[in-house]
Amino acid sequence: MPAAYGPPFASYQGEIFLRGLAGERPGQPLAWSELAQAAQRAADPQGWDYVAGGAGTSDTMRANEEAFRRWRIVPRMLRDVSSRDLSVTVLGTECPAPVGLAPVGVQTVVHDDGEQASARAAGAVGLPMTVSTMSTTTLEEIAAAGDGPKWFQLYWPTDRDLAASFLARAEAAYRRADECGDANGAFNLGVLLESRGDIAGAGAAYQRAAGRGHAAATSNLGVMLEEHGYLAGAEAAYRRADEAGDANGAFNLGILLEGRGDLSEAEQAYRRAEESGDATLANLARSARLDLARSAVGV
Ligand SMILES: Cc1cc2nc3c(=O)[nH]c(=O)nc-3n(C[C@H](O)[C@H](O)[C@H](O)COP(=O)(O)O)c2cc1C
Repeated sequence: MPAAYGPPFASYQGEIFLRGLAGERPGQPLAWSELAQAAQRAADPQGWDYVAGGAGTSDTMRANEEAFRRWRIVPRMLRDVSSRDLSVTVLGTECPAPVGLAPVGVQTVVHDDGEQASARAAGAVGLPMTVSTMSTTTLEEIAAAGDGPKWFQLYWPTDRDLAASFLARAEAAYRRADECGDANGAFNLGVLLESRGDIAGAGAAYQRAAGRGHAAATSNLGVMLEEHGYLAGAEAAYRRADEAGDANGAFNLGILLEGRGDLSEAEQAYRRAEESGDATLANLARSARLDLARSAVGV
């Protein structure tokens, strides 16, 4: 594998074929079941049991695997695939592909580099890593090990000082990322400050994230301003998000315009949201647009 790889992820496969033609085989198996077998051979039995075992008799784990296997990817024919974009925004975090690392605690049980290795790998492809409360490495060390978005899974400890320390350190990490010019860092700082009621601080953080091209931040800024009654500011933010192609921005703009009676402009905004790739939002926008229909008697 090359030292640095990232989107488009499909190039991976082409590269494996090309190297294969030159007689070079991948260093690791590609089928996940073979990869799991290789991991079992490499791990010590305790580490393996911790990772591979399910609760009780592992029945629920097996049922989940079987259910997952029943999912199918619908092939699309005759589409232009010369430039593909797998990127999604999840809870405001922009990801190059719809994949993230779930929180997994005590990772040094399987490798001395533990969570730092996972952070390096996730960072190399720009995917989000959820850092577990049960990490064997400190939040600061994990943050330093790899770029890329980080989420924090908090098991709320009974010790309130420890909980406060977790939250303060997560905030400090967002601030550092923000100071380095990272859009996700500024966005997450905004979410945190907003949840604490610091509207001015949150607004400024969202503005910084928006200035760095984070469309969801502009949308969040709009929602926050609207909630506090600043309708003109909210509208401006939604319009900016909408212009940047953010379907949430278009949808929220539609609601705001509908609320003040600009029905035809609201309809246009809903239509833009409807045409976005986001299926849930498209559904909401479609029903909202249908609701705009005037009654025959009233026309
Ligand atoms: C070894 C291991 C450790 C885990 N540690 C945590 C944890 O610390 N915090 C947490 O919220 N979930 C933890 N989980 C749960 C996973 O994040 C995930 O939700 C779960 O494995 C279901 O996803 P899956 O079906 O892809 O395995 C852990 C799972 C495994 C297998």
